[in-house]
Amino acid sequence: MRIAGLFALILGSFLLPAQETTPKVKVVGAKPTSPASGKEMFHAYCASCHGLDGKGNGPAASALKKQPADLTLLAQQSGGKFPAMRVMNSIKDGTQAGHGSKDMPVWGPILSTVSSDSPAVVTQRIGNLIGFIESMQVK
Ligand code: HEC
Repeated sequence: MRIAGLFALILGSFLLPAQETTPKVKVVGAKPTSPASGKEMFHAYCASCHGLDGKGNGPAASALKKQPADLTLLAQQSGGKFPAMRVMNSIKDGTQAGHGSKDMPVWGPILSTVSSDSPAVVTQRIGNLIGFIESMQVK
C-alpha cells in the first residue's frame, strides 16, 4: 500500500507540470469596446477562438473540444448567401448548433454588460459584428 502511494506521488509530480502547459480557456470579463466597430469587437471578443482572420485558429482553439467555426466560409456553405439571421441568432441567443455549448459563449448577455444594459446598443453591437463577419467571407 505504502509503495503504491509513493508511486502515485511520483507519478503525480510528473503529471502536474504537463497539466500546467495544457492550454486552458481563461474566461475574463469582457473589456469595453466601441459598439460602432465590428472589427474592434471581433478582435476583443471573438478572435481568441475564431482567429483574427475568422478562420477558427485563434490561440484558445486548441483548448476546445469542438473547433471554432471558420467564419469566412459561412456564405460559401450557404449557397453563396451570407446567413445573417443564423449568425445573429448564434451570437445573441446561442440557438444554433454549438452555441451556448461550453465552447461557444452566448454573447447576448455578455454584450449587454458592456452596453450599460441598453438593448439598442446591444442590437448595434450585434449588427456591426455581423457586418464585420460578412466582410470576411471568401468569394
Ligand atoms: C471560447 C471560444 C469562442 C469564442 C470566444 C467565440 N466563439 Fe464562436 N464558435 C466557437 C465554437 C467552438 C464554434 C463551433 C460550434 C459548433 O459548431 O458546434 C463557434 C461557432 C460560431 C458561429 C457559428 C457559425 C455557423 O456555422 O453558424 C458563429 C456565427 C460564431 N461562432 C460567432 C462568434 C462571434 C461573433 C464571437 C465573438 C462575439 C465568437 N463567435 C466568439 C467558439 C468561440
